Amino acid sequence: MYAPDQWPAYFAEARGCEVIDLDGRRFLDMTTSGIGSCLLGYADPDVTEAVLRRVRLGSMCTLNSPEEVELAALLIELHPWAEQVRYCRTGGEAMAVAVRIARAATGRDRVALCGYHGWTDWYLAANLPDKSDGGGDALKEHLLPGLAPAGVPVGLTGTALPFTYILLAVNNCGFVTKLSVVSYQLSELGNNDSGKSSD
Ligand SMILES: Cc1ncc(COP(=O)(O)O)c(C=O)c1O
Repeated sequence: MYAPDQWPAYFAEARGCEVIDLDGRRFLDMTTSGIGSCLLGYADPDVTEAVLRRVRLGSMCTLNSPEEVELAALLIELHPWAEQVRYCRTGGEAMAVAVRIARAATGRDRVALCGYHGWTDWYLAANLPDKSDGGGDALKEHLLPGLAPAGVPVGLTGTALPFTYILLAVNNCGFVTKLSVVSYQLSELGNNDSGKSSD
């Protein structure tokens, strides 16, 4: 849930960048409309019309939709560096795919990460208690503190290493930018390598 006690959990309507909650209160959404994937705003008329058209034709089938090929070609045209397109349903799934590809390509297991990346095992492994980690909440600086790694295989301990590349702090003088611990974390990775290609 976003910002408990400050932001409603459920919405009744959403149009453009405006959200109306179940009590009729209106909010301007500066998150998903701002940095998220809802680039055209909520309930964009063209998108709504296209979705309705597809729903009427049948939106769920054992076969694939030809529009996915059309969109893939357009995405590659827009991003010529990309050779292929893979669709995902969530950010967490996209990150799991990226980590899987990175591990397969490098033959290494350990991943350095910064920020929130969803709920999948590779990421929550960062919160598995480790000798070098006081309380098993290494992700506390990455948006959501207290994410329990229950059910994450203990064998993944030490495979996800969070770092903070920029820490913004406010003090009496205003904003203070503190440079991060990346170099420290990277040197730790190097020190722990011990000749194995597991990081
Ligand atoms: C960088 C990043 N990765 C992954 C996620 C997880 O996305 P989802 O909730 O769609 O799984 C988020 C969500 O905020 C994100 O910002």
